[in-house]
Amino acid sequence: MRKDFGKKTNLLVYPVLIIGTYDEFGNPNAMNAAWGGQTDTNKISIALASHKTTDNLLKTGAFTVSFATEDTVEISDYFGISTGNKEDKVKKSGVHVAKSAYVNAPIFEEYPLTLECKVVSYENEVLVGDIINLSADESILDENGNIVIEKMKPIIYEAGSHTYRKIGEVAGKAFKDGNKIKNA
Ligand SMILES: Cc1cc2nc3c(=O)[nH]c(=O)nc-3n(C[C@H](O)[C@H](O)[C@H](O)COP(=O)(O)O)c2cc1C
Repeated sequence: MRKDFGKKTNLLVYPVLIIGTYDEFGNPNAMNAAWGGQTDTNKISIALASHKTTDNLLKTGAFTVSFATEDTVEISDYFGISTGNKEDKVKKSGVHVAKSAYVNAPIFEEYPLTLECKVVSYENEVLVGDIINLSADESILDENGNIVIEKMKPIIYEAGSHTYRKIGEVAGKAFKDGNKIKNA
């Protein structure tokens, strides 16, 4: 038996994306967004209503996307419950800003993994960005320079209960485990 929830649609599990932008005067802003993901090799799409963030990125043509972590839960939630139209969220949160070397958008140093993007389009409340660079803080790399999830500690957003959750143990290997059925 399955239970129908009708149009109360919910994918249940989402990323916690922090979108960084500058306004026309170079003041940084950050917002929290769940409804987004990578939609091609170098493309990211995020469903965004009209915000200070969209005003900013339409002026600068650029934005960053960082992944929230266990160490940035409170700051990340704050970025989603307050608007840059009313207060300086970056100053109040105390995050440290460095300008991206590739796009006109801020990198927040407390967030170890960041996509640096140029705006492709913002239509029908969907932002599409071209990912120009991915940068990672050295603290989340192994000795070979690879990103280590256990060091990064990204969080996910459980929409049904409005909860941020840690990412758990390895459940399997992609492009591999299905071979047991495929090759049987
Ligand atoms: C967990 C969470 C997820 C959110 N996801 C989105 C989203 O996907 N799209 C959106 O337009 N707003 C989303 N918001 C709301 C914005 O973050 C919020 O309106 C914020 O104040 C916008 O900031 P700004 O006006 O400074 O740009 C989310 C908020 C939270 C707390």
